[in-house]
Amino acid sequence: MERLKVGIVGLGSWGLSHLEAYRDLPFVEVVAVSDIRPERRQLAQERYGIPHAFEDAESMMKMPDIGLVSVVTFEQQHLEPVLLALSAGKNVLVEKPVATRLEETRAMQEAARKYGKFVVPGHLLRFEPKYAEIRRMIAEGELGPVASIYMKRSRESSLFRTYRRTHTVHELMIHDLDQAIWYAGSRVKRVYATGRFPKNTESPDVLWAQLTFENGIIAVLHANWMTPDEAGIAINDCTEVIGEKGIAHFDTHAAGVQLWGTGGRRTSDLSVHHNLGNRVIGALKEELSYVSLCALTGTTPDVLSFDDAVHGLEVAEAIVISAKEGRVVDL
Ligand SMILES: NC(=O)c1ccc[n+]([C@@H]2O[C@H](COP(=O)([O-])OP(=O)(O)OC[C@H]3O[C@@H](n4cnc5c(N)ncnc54)[C@H](O)[C@@H]3O)[C@@H](O)[C@H]2O)c1
Repeated sequence: MERLKVGIVGLGSWGLSHLEAYRDLPFVEVVAVSDIRPERRQLAQERYGIPHAFEDAESMMKMPDIGLVSVVTFEQQHLEPVLLALSAGKNVLVEKPVATRLEETRAMQEAARKYGKFVVPGHLLRFEPKYAEIRRMIAEGELGPVASIYMKRSRESSLFRTYRRTHTVHELMIHDLDQAIWYAGSRVKRVYATGRFPKNTESPDVLWAQLTFENGIIAVLHANWMTPDEAGIAINDCTEVIGEKGIAHFDTHAAGVQLWGTGGRRTSDLSVHHNLGNRVIGALKEELSYVSLCALTGTTPDVLSFDDAVHGLEVAEAIVISAKEGRVVDL
């Protein structure tokens, strides 16, 4: 079997999840990683046996046999590795948010066109069965014309200490923004957002956004970092889509496996990325499998949409302004 050779830039916590998921795909071989931190390069080589580990991404891109690069660096540092990979003739999957500044996405799209390679956003919820099933229901008319979309995403407050480095709309709400755009099949024309801003931070720990799409669909998105750490790790997200013929709904808090143990309560979320003994399961692996097969067969991935991701960032910019200035923003 021909195997796709993959490189990963950025081996932080999520880059490591990429590494684990790729390693579980029989048609993929992770041949190189790049991280500015020596301990992460050492981890890749010693624990996972990755043959090449580079301090700078540019050196990794010189490896001619790499066909796909995952960019998993900090949110504000996606542009340079994406451009390096595309100009070296590699296909690219770039993690969400694809960028935090809109103009950077244009440079990525231009480079993909220029070098004849694809760049796709890491919006893995399009591969999560519950989210994808609702999209199928909409596409096949089971819900009738859609009127309203509601999505909530809650995370532990300790995570905010790390991820306040990026605005909550880019860090957390961007997942639901992409889903809402996917479900609505339309562009957002009007935004009103409001948030709670703790002292000394530009990022809200509670954020609400109301969107009006060109086709009349209304969406309300809510993201927060308010789950007390003492409550134990528990993903507590919700989606509800209301159509003229039916309502589709799920809560994720009941979808994992609950463990009441001596160390407190824990809910293993099995849907996104989970180590099951020596196997990996979840939407990340599904996403990487799909993108790898596209790279291997020379197909352009169409489940993930960079155009939708760019529109998501346009809407995110409007949400930032609206929440800061307390006014409606028209796009
Ligand atoms: N899709 C999801 O569900 C999901 C989940 C978590 C994180 N993410 C995204 O993944 C990205 C990384 O997040 P994280 O939590 O792993 O961050 P992190 O801070 O844990 O890791 C980032 C890593 O990138 C390395 N790095 C930074 N600049 C670099 C460069 N120029 N070259 C090489 N390495 C570099 C850092 O040393 C670090 O190891 C972010 O965009 C984040 O939003 C996505």
